[in-house]
Amino acid sequence: MLEGENNMDKKIIIAPSILSADFGRLAEEIKAVELAGADWVHVDVMDGIFVPNITIGPGVIKSVKKVSDMFFDVHLMIDRPERYIDEFASAGSDMITFHIEACASPEDVIKKIRQAEKKVGISVKPGTEISLVEKLLDKVDMVLVMTVEPGFGGQSFMRGMLDKVRYLKENFDGYIQVDGGVNKDTAREIIKAGGNVLVAGTAIFGQKDYSGAIKEIRG
Ligand code: DX5
Ligand code: ZN
Repeated sequence: MLEGENNMDKKIIIAPSILSADFGRLAEEIKAVELAGADWVHVDVMDGIFVPNITIGPGVIKSVKKVSDMFFDVHLMIDRPERYIDEFASAGSDMITFHIEACASPEDVIKKIRQAEKKVGISVKPGTEISLVEKLLDKVDMVLVMTVEPGFGGQSFMRGMLDKVRYLKENFDGYIQVDGGVNKDTAREIIKAGGNVLVAGTAIFGQKDYSGAIKEIRG
């Protein structure tokens, strides 16, 4: 197979991370990226324990879900995610992604998300070997490769993580999501390595022209 051929038939999905949006105008910001051509909206949920930052919970998702028809891609950076799957599912998440490092039994978390009839994503922090998700690949819809330490927007892309993306391109048929430091330049490397869902916070919400920013990332 030719280099990059895998990506030809798969649409690249752009998922703006609302972590960098104006939280005081969150509904408007989500509507704006939807009109600007975003495919999914990426919601970063942080609990101050799994990561050193706190963001939003199911109540906010429930409210903003009403203004948008977009696919809600919810990234849980919370300890023991099994405790909150039902709440995030009924709030309107379409995909729930949890961290393998945050739970004792990833299989049980996957089961809970499936029971709630939502798509399942599993995520690895930069220090986590991708081989740890190997036995779960046939049970999830997406693997999220973190390319910064989770917790904050605006950090630099960790290029070394692209090896994980290449591994997934060879061994996994689902969505390969990359999150952290994605911009119009790093996007080219990510897509070439096999990433097909690109999360971007600063590179979209930090610009005046959301539509132009999304187009530039899509390439
Ligand atoms: C970090 C979050 C990211 C973050 C990315 O923990 O998971 O989604 O918003 O922000 P940028 O695109 O600014 O690196
Ligand atoms: Zn995220």
